[in-house]
Amino acid sequence: MDPFVDLRSDTVTRPTRAMKQAMMDAPLGDDVFGDDPTVHALERKVAQLLGKEAAILVPSGTMANQLALRVQLRPGEEAIVHAGCHILNNEGGGAAALSGVTLRPLDSADGGLDPGAVEANLHLDDDPHHAQTRLICLENTHNACGGQVLSFPGLQAVAEVARRHGVAMHLDGARLLNAQVASGRAAQQWAALFDTVSLCLSKGLGAPVGSVLAGPADLVAKARRHRKQLGGGMRQAGILAAAGLYALDHHVERLADDHRRARQLAEAIAQVPGLTVELWRVQTNIVYFDLAPDHPLARDPRGRETLQRRLAERGVRIAGAPYRLRAVTHLDVDDTGIERACAALREVMR
Ligand SMILES: Cc1ncc(COP(=O)(O)O)c(C=O)c1O
Repeated sequence: MDPFVDLRSDTVTRPTRAMKQAMMDAPLGDDVFGDDPTVHALERKVAQLLGKEAAILVPSGTMANQLALRVQLRPGEEAIVHAGCHILNNEGGGAAALSGVTLRPLDSADGGLDPGAVEANLHLDDDPHHAQTRLICLENTHNACGGQVLSFPGLQAVAEVARRHGVAMHLDGARLLNAQVASGRAAQQWAALFDTVSLCLSKGLGAPVGSVLAGPADLVAKARRHRKQLGGGMRQAGILAAAGLYALDHHVERLADDHRRARQLAEAIAQVPGLTVELWRVQTNIVYFDLAPDHPLARDPRGRETLQRRLAERGVRIAGAPYRLRAVTHLDVDDTGIERACAALREVMR
């Protein structure tokens, strides 16, 4: 048994034996020379999965998103984003630092964008005061909104505004396959509303490294140039692509197990005195929860860290302190692990 039930993120998974075997067996070449057949196979597979002309393997979800900004915006232009999105809050200021663009956040409780608010906030005139809006970014599932699946009609309405005004759309689909499994709506249908889509192989899918950016062939060709510029050209990357191919063949349907376990955990948390959780948000593999305001630990500025430490002492790792608490289910957490986590939570809050 693992010494820890590690619920900090779905990025902590380790490749399975079968995935490692697929990596060992992969035919390889120098991908910067365009010679790696396994990378080609992965890029073709993801492009097909998402209904796009082309795709490019990159080291991380962050690089996939940053390339999407870079190929669709020029310095001084802007993208409208959700206030809680990864691109704005968790990519080290990359939009400004790497592409010289600004991000204008609009907020909502569920991670979507109100089409009326988007339309009202587009800067498309010639007023030199304004950064011109050239891109709208959405995230599905939405990490900071608790792994929620975005409303499909809501996205259609935003896409319609974007098309009407000639503004491009990018989807941070780090966990798009979680959205597919939870909603029953194919990734390709979600992706059809967007020009570019990023997809992570190294989260719930369980590959050790890698994300893919998919979109029109000309934008992907541009992204290939910028990937090299940023130091993301990888040589015998087929060893990683093989893990991604394996994950897409074997680890998609099983995401439903992660969702069931996250729900089980959230329902248990809802029963623990002193903890709060918004159950309606728990639709996939992410559970945000917090100390109830009337609990003594909530009055301690380090209360969340204390809870986190007490759980770690009982072999359960969670993330989020000092702001709020987060548990994420994934390939390396089974039913026993969830039961251990529930028991540890009950014990530390007693
Ligand atoms: C929604 C979302 N987008 C992008 C990323 C970035 O992925 P990476 O850590 O591979 O850069 C993450 C990482 O957790 C994420 O949650």
